[in-house]
Amino acid sequence: MTSKERLIVALDVDTQKKALSLVERLKAEVEIFKIGSELFTSCGPGIVSAVKSRGCGIFLDLKFHDIPNTTSKAAVAATKMGVSIINFHALGGYDMMKRAKEAVVIEAEELKIERPKLIAVTILTSMNRNGLKKTGINDNMKKEVLKLAALAKEAGLDGVVASASEVKLIREHLGGYFTIITPGVRPEWAAVNDQKRIATPKEAVLNGATYIVVGRPIVEAPDPLAAAKRVLEEMK
Ligand code: C5P
Repeated sequence: MTSKERLIVALDVDTQKKALSLVERLKAEVEIFKIGSELFTSCGPGIVSAVKSRGCGIFLDLKFHDIPNTTSKAAVAATKMGVSIINFHALGGYDMMKRAKEAVVIEAEELKIERPKLIAVTILTSMNRNGLKKTGINDNMKKEVLKLAALAKEAGLDGVVASASEVKLIREHLGGYFTIITPGVRPEWAAVNDQKRIATPKEAVLNGATYIVVGRPIVEAPDPLAAAKRVLEEMK
């Protein structure tokens, strides 16, 4: 994969106008944009078609987590929108993930389109050991992350979202073909913001990340296109 294919820019803004202005400025260098729950809830599904119509791929980061019937129908709706990546909380369980995969495969075949990649979120990076314990999960963080990543793989999902500190472990245990998407990426010249377990673009790729997600270092830069170019350069 080229650096360009590996970079995902998070459109963490609250209006269609701001999102599309970023897409217009960045699309020469960026192929995939992440639409998360803030932007999607603010603008509705029209934001997906608007970004797609500008020739860009979409990671729809809505982290589905519901009963298998509801989740698989939501995943089918996302497939119909033509997004490239969809994600789920692995804590929704094996049946939820497996049913969603089966439904997406059927839908993509019917539509004759490439199936979106199905990705699991293991434990949110905002959780620490203490927060995890309060939910009743007593395993240590790495063990739990690995267990959920293995469950996602067993259910037929294509990969996981994982922080820079978990990438190596997951890659070692789940192999080279498993997709790993790593947020919390900070070039040395960028502010850390609220991210805790960070890595530079180069480190993330060397550790085994398939994709890296970068938000504020690019989106809030005085010149987002120049910032994206610097990130791409570092990834090489
Ligand atoms: O601005 P920044 O580069 O920190 O943005 C990272 C993006 O990745 C945000 O959209 C954030 O919600 C998302 N993300 C994350 N950590 C996770 C999962 C998603 O930072 N574990």
